[in-house]
Amino acid sequence: MTNLIEFETKRLRLRQWHPNDREPFATLNADPKVMEFFPASLDRTASDAMADRCQSLIAERGWGFWVAETKETCQFIGFVGLHVPIAELPFSPCIEIGWRLAFQYWGKGFATEAARAALRVGFELLSLPEIVSFTTARNLRSRTVMERLGMCETAETFEHPHVPVGSSLRQHCLYRLSYDQWVAQQKVAG
Ligand SMILES: CC(C)(COP(=O)(O)OP(=O)(O)OC[C@H]1O[C@@H](n2cnc3c(N)ncnc32)[C@H](O)[C@@H]1OP(=O)(O)O)[C@@H](O)C(=O)NCCC(=O)NCCS
Repeated sequence: MTNLIEFETKRLRLRQWHPNDREPFATLNADPKVMEFFPASLDRTASDAMADRCQSLIAERGWGFWVAETKETCQFIGFVGLHVPIAELPFSPCIEIGWRLAFQYWGKGFATEAARAALRVGFELLSLPEIVSFTTARNLRSRTVMERLGMCETAETFEHPHVPVGSSLRQHCLYRLSYDQWVAQQKVAG
């Protein structure tokens, strides 16, 4: 049986999805500020389907896009975690790290805090040789998280096959972090 991986950071709990997460997740997915760099916001049905997919992938593999909630108040703030992209990408196969937080939780360091812990899970528990991250080139907030995590921008820009041709969101940039780079960074950080 697969071991369910859940973990905590200083301020957050990263856990499996619960039915109660669907409502705040739908609110987040309907928010144009949160969805600015996606082709479309998600309606309730699409949002619930995504929550279900995240939940079943975690149940199946033990890891995935975990719900992030505050430890202090148990508020759902969004998701952060590891995922095998569904799309066939120029650098597939790969495992990506990704995040999506409700707008009121931006600017507090939550995404980076949760993602640092998710990288540790990926490298130490899952023994991944590399974790990638990618986003539409204009998504500077997301790129800044990648840089805060010590991920390295590559020259491998690519057109995301799930974004319509002609959309200004189609061009994506790619960041990589190898296990060796991550270990070296841990040593520097002491
Ligand atoms: C991408 C996203 C997760 C980034 O969130 P974020 O809050 O900017 O990222 P961080 O967690 O790294 O927070 C950093 C900010 O918190 C501030 N901060 C406040 N308290 C902090 C603390 N205790 N520790 C660290 N940083 C703190 C930092 O100064 C920084 O502020 P700044 O934005 O003014 O520079 C968020 O914008 C989002 O969900 N976007 C929509 C979804 C999306 O685009 N996902 C990516 C698709 S590929």
